[in-house]
Amino acid sequence: MAPVAASHAADKATHAANAASSQAHTAASRLSRWVEDNKNLAVALGIGTVVAAGGGAYYYFGTQSSKSSRRPKSPPSSRVGDDGEKKSAAEDTKEAESGTSAAAASAAKSKKKKKGKKTTGGGPSIDEGLKSRDGPLLEEASDESLFALSPEEIAKLPQERRVPLAQALKAQGNKAYSSRNFQEAITLYTKAIAAQPLAVFFSNRAACYSNLGKHRDVISDCNSALETDPAYVKALNRRANAQEQIGQDADGDKPGKELEEKKDLLYQSLCDFTAVAILGGFSDTGATESVERVLKKLAAVKAREVLRTREPKLPSPTFVTAYLEAFRKKPMPTLPENASQADQTLLLAFEALEARNYPHASSLFNEAVEQGPSTDELKSLAYNMRGTFRFIIGQATEALEDLNNATDLQPSYVQSWVKKASVHMELGDKDEAFADFDKAVKANSEDPDIFYHRGQVHFILGQYTDAMADYDKSTSLDSSFIFSQVQHAVAQYKLGNITQSTSAFRSLLQRFGDSSEAFNYYGELLLDQQKFEDAMRNFDRAIEIEAAKDRSRNVLPMINKALALFQWKQDMAAAERLCREALNTDEDCDVAVATLAQLSLQQGKLPEAIEWFRRSAQIARTEPELNNAITYENASLAQLQFIKNFPEQGAALSAMAGGGLA
Ligand SMILES: *[C@@H]1O[C@H](CO)[C@@H](O)[C@H](O)[C@H]1NC(C)=O
Ligand SMILES: *[C@@H]1O[C@H](CO)[C@@H](O)[C@H](O)[C@H]1NC(C)=O
Ligand SMILES: *[C@@H]1O[C@H](CO)[C@@H](O)[C@H](O)[C@H]1NC(C)=O
Ligand SMILES: *[C@@H]1O[C@H](CO)[C@@H](O)[C@H](O)[C@H]1NC(C)=O
Repeated sequence: MAPVAASHAADKATHAANAASSQAHTAASRLSRWVEDNKNLAVALGIGTVVAAGGGAYYYFGTQSSKSSRRPKSPPSSRVGDDGEKKSAAEDTKEAESGTSAAAASAAKSKKKKKGKKTTGGGPSIDEGLKSRDGPLLEEASDESLFALSPEEIAKLPQERRVPLAQALKAQGNKAYSSRNFQEAITLYTKAIAAQPLAVFFSNRAACYSNLGKHRDVISDCNSALETDPAYVKALNRRANAQEQIGQDADGDKPGKELEEKKDLLYQSLCDFTAVAILGGFSDTGATESVERVLKKLAAVKAREVLRTREPKLPSPTFVTAYLEAFRKKPMPTLPENASQADQTLLLAFEALEARNYPHASSLFNEAVEQGPSTDELKSLAYNMRGTFRFIIGQATEALEDLNNATDLQPSYVQSWVKKASVHMELGDKDEAFADFDKAVKANSEDPDIFYHRGQVHFILGQYTDAMADYDKSTSLDSSFIFSQVQHAVAQYKLGNITQSTSAFRSLLQRFGDSSEAFNYYGELLLDQQKFEDAMRNFDRAIEIEAAKDRSRNVLPMINKALALFQWKQDMAAAERLCREALNTDEDCDVAVATLAQLSLQQGKLPEAIEWFRRSAQIARTEPELNNAITYENASLAQLQFIKNFPEQGAALSAMAGGGLA
């Protein structure tokens, strides 16, 4: 069993260190790991409704395409119930593409051929089966006068003439196709369609349009093919490719009708590729890769669009508090005797912060910056805090500008450098982040904040030994700051020293008996070791401590308890109840929403899962988080669409998911 709970500790650690990027990880990595870790469990529980299978299948797309190879190698035939006609239809395009089909070969014999000399001649064909099928038909139809008829005239022929003629025209079309005479092939398939509108003719003509880059014609022909044969995989695949081609250059930053259309096509492409992947029993890696590619594109476009249009909004108080408390408390700034209006505003802002009225604090800090406090020191503080809030809101670039001004005005103020390191990490620039820490050390080598936060960066990067050295340094400078000590114990656990980590936690719990964090993290480590009862006891204690607070309670212990109940007793209802309770306390708690989404998925409640993913997208703080939520939502939507479109295969899928994973 992979470390579910440890991932919490890690993510939560990350969180405290570098709130922004960590929170993105939290939602993303915690979830994907959770999904992965619990997949077998969920299936073992026998949650095997049709819809659940849709959810199950989703995991293969969203989190681990590589696993698709572990799927049963012989997928159930997606063409169950097909008659011979369809079967040959499925083969036909390949013939057209390869140019070695019996039909093409026999067609070559037809005197009608303009390019007879280029054909493979009448030699033995590769596919005897097809030859025996098409041969006789072709002879009946090899009347040149019929080939020359227009589609309209062909349509008027009696049925018994049209059927063999259609086959002959198709054979001719395939031949033209294999010689890459696409225009000619189109003419021939068009006549074949007039003779008999079989799905395969439409699909083959679509293949011609595809080669000519006429994507809209491809779509229209595939639509016709799929009308008669909705599970026609080749047509689905062609249509998906054409839709993707048109939607490819969708730009979320350029709103308008064109963007709407392209997004729509990308979504349809996703649905078609999803159907191809599922109908093919996930053995078609090309299809699963296509699903992921289109999903990625669609989510990126949508995320840009959302970021362009939405109002910046503070994340949940749990998140804000966690970030702010990762810095040791500072005294209130002292104002000069003749304090200006701006100075007063700044003080009010800090008071609002103290009262955890974050929206108010945020707007007051902004006001203070605009009014311009009277001293460099106060100006620097105002920039520092406005930058902090911008960072928390997800505006990393703007935050960096503010923090640059803060360090310019007061280079000796360590916290501004440390916060700059956070921002640089969020922007993916770890070298700059370490450079910021160096500057901070230069400003004051005895500030414990520096070492705690640098430890967190090492931790995120998996450098646990370096992280522990920094946590140690931080603790040696201030032993009252609990986070360095908690993280030290977690890093120890990460390095595999479980005994040492456990005894470190025991002593922390004695010294910080009123800190919910210590109980919560310790519970996570216990959960990771499957010590459910002990874990539960620690989560309960953490919940109790938080419940006694009158505002901005940390709800993470509740979510952890929910996960423990799910893993231990498979008690979905209780797990859901706890997550909902967490949401009552902190309505924007992204981890609660994400967990509810996954719990819904596990129970086969796809529509509910979709609602939760949508909500998750609404509260996502950063672009990667947003991307992640949208990806999940759209993947689930596409699968729901599949189950609606293909009820029978949906049932088969359910059986396969059970069989493949049990
Ligand atoms: C406060 O007093 C100092 C020293 O007299 C002066 O330089 C400064 O401009 C004054 N500030 C305000 C806001 O009046
Ligand atoms: C940073 O300070 C400079 C110089 O005072 C100012 O022009 C600029 O607008 C400030 N940046 C921000 C983001 O306020
Ligand atoms: C665990 O940590 C302790 C104390 O730091 C150390 O003495 C011990 O060698 C470590 N054990 C392992 C297996 O690393
Ligand atoms: C994909 O997910 C986004 C994110 O919430 C949603 O707004 C959008 O409607 C979905 N796309 C489609 C085509 O359903």
